Amino acid sequence: MKLKNLRLIAALALFATVLGLQSCNGEDPKGPDCNIPNADLSYNLNIKQIIDNQCISCHAPGSGVAGAVGDFRNYAGLQAYLKNGKILDAVVNDKTMPQGGGMSQAQRDSINCWIASGYPE
Ligand code: HEC
Repeated sequence: MKLKNLRLIAALALFATVLGLQSCNGEDPKGPDCNIPNADLSYNLNIKQIIDNQCISCHAPGSGVAGAVGDFRNYAGLQAYLKNGKILDAVVNDKTMPQGGGMSQAQRDSINCWIASGYPE
């Protein structure tokens, strides 16, 4: 009887773990899966270059573009929009940015994986 109970508890625990993992994947706020190793991505190594080329013509003080929020010229200026998920949405999920297009999927993937790994500087 005791052994049976233990088996039941073990089975339930396994079941709960599987369910937990599944719901975790389902609610992942970090966008699509990525397969670029974290160590290959950092702001200074490769992301700044992308943002400089694709974003700061509008997202910087004095650009004259109405509604282009923030100052994306440096790491500090990006923080608020990384934390609230707006950059992930605009660049990776919805692809509404850069306005006018012109960003490769590889660049979007890099930004996705960089954000997923905690956007290291
Ligand atoms: C040609 C100008 C232009 C470029 C280039 C551009 N943006 Fe934008 N962006 C805008 C404008 C205008 C808005 C406000 C209107 C809108 O949301 O569509 C905006 C809105 C946003 C928002 C939403 C802000 C909010 O609070 O909802 C984010 C995030 C954003 N841009 C990120 C980026 C990133 C990251 C890049 C580079 C990959 C980029 N943008 C490139 C013009 C631009």
